Amino acid sequence: MDVVDTPSRWCTTVVIGVFTLLAGAIALLCSQHPPYTHGTGGPVGARRKKQRMAQRLVIVGAGGHARDTFDVVEAAAERQPDSWDLLGFVSEVADDHGRAYHGSRVLGGFEWFAGRRDVAVVIAIGDPEVRARLVARAEQLGLPFATLVHPAAVVSRHARVGPGCIVSAGVMVTSSASIGAHVILNLGCTVAHDAVVADCCTLAPGVHVNGHARLGSGCDLGAGAVVLPKVAIGAGSVVGAGAVVIKDLPAGVTAVGVPARIVGSRPPPG
Ligand SMILES: CC(C)(COP(=O)(O)OP(=O)(O)OC[C@H]1O[C@@H](n2cnc3c(N)ncnc32)[C@H](O)[C@@H]1OP(=O)(O)O)[C@@H](O)C(=O)NCCC(=O)NCCS
Repeated sequence: MDVVDTPSRWCTTVVIGVFTLLAGAIALLCSQHPPYTHGTGGPVGARRKKQRMAQRLVIVGAGGHARDTFDVVEAAAERQPDSWDLLGFVSEVADDHGRAYHGSRVLGGFEWFAGRRDVAVVIAIGDPEVRARLVARAEQLGLPFATLVHPAAVVSRHARVGPGCIVSAGVMVTSSASIGAHVILNLGCTVAHDAVVADCCTLAPGVHVNGHARLGSGCDLGAGAVVLPKVAIGAGSVVGAGAVVIKDLPAGVTAVGVPARIVGSRPPPG
């Protein structure tokens, strides 16, 4: 019996061996090229390296969004200990100086950065105009910008996320979406395929920007707003909480409701 069965046993062993090798190779390839990445962020332009030193980081702002950003940094550093070394907050509001949030101090105003060009910054202030102004100040000082992505966000490796962005927990950015610089994607936002979100936009929690939609720079979308596919919104426009934008909006307007209607206009962003 043994003599007769030996060839078929050999055959089975070889087939199992080949399948095991193939499965191992496929698993290895998938682990190196995941279709989607759960982010931890990292210094802009730097590829992840083994054993790199954590980048020193300061959050600019000391309000609600700055503290939410603290959570993003903390979660990212827990996931990847060599990602960020948070030094504290910098605020232009003098009353904030010396305060501490979650054990991290407000270090002072922008003057604190004098002679400290190796510290990365992120501007964690919800108002797009204020954020743009502080981005310009940080650029004048030659400070590098951090891009912060919460580990519970899902960003397609085929999407682009610019420097200085803050991507909160629950965000999804899908294939070929383009997120400019210094954009805030707050909790649970989605930005779908081929959508473009230009620099310094703020998307409040639960905003949905659908496929091929385009937001000009400095747009401010309130909680739960929805932008339908292919719709374009001009620079500096504000969309109220819960609005559904079904057709293009010009620059510098405020629109509210379902469907969104224009209720005001604002001076174009300076
Ligand atoms: C739209 C918004 C910015 C207010 O803009 P505004 O220029 O100050 O407008 P006003 O408050 O004067 O309101 C103008 C009109 O729009 C209505 N309106 C304001 N916000 C609205 C909203 N979200 N949905 C429906 N109608 C709204 C007002 O009732 C008012 O109507 P009326 O003229 O018939 O009285 C604000 O209401 C809003 O929705 N902000 C988003 C806040 C948010 O989501 N923050 C997230 C923090 S993380």
